[in-house]
Amino acid sequence: MKFALVCLFAISTIVCVYGRPQDHYTDKFDNIDVDQILNNDRLLKRYVDCLLERSHVKCPSEALELKKVLADAMATDCAKCTDRQKEIARKALDFLIINKTDMWNDLKSKYDPEEKYAKKYEDRALKKEN
Ligand SMILES: *[C@@H]1O[C@H](CO)[C@@H](O)[C@H](O)[C@H]1NC(C)=O
Repeated sequence: MKFALVCLFAISTIVCVYGRPQDHYTDKFDNIDVDQILNNDRLLKRYVDCLLERSHVKCPSEALELKKVLADAMATDCAKCTDRQKEIARKALDFLIINKTDMWNDLKSKYDPEEKYAKKYEDRALKKEN
């Protein structure tokens, strides 16, 4: 009886921990061409302005989706990202930190005002660079 109870508990834990697809962000935009955005100053600025809620911008729908999850993704080190999203995030972060410091600082002051998470990403980007 006791064993059965333990089993039941173990099974429900497994189901609860692994059976929650809603614990991932939407993969609707996973096929986005991140290089194209990063290497196009105008497009990149539009994304960043949108994330910063600068009022004059028309937000691309990908950027709106990103805006919803960005603070959470930053705080949790992309724990709810798909593998593809992790790859995109890594590339975009490295690019902004190394090549677009101004944009990175603006994003940082909005999404990580207490600088709790940014340093980790900066260290990682700089380490790769050197
Ligand atoms: C910085 O920009 C250059 C030129 O656009 C690019 O080749 C390089 O990969 C970028 N660095 C990072 C870390 O993305």
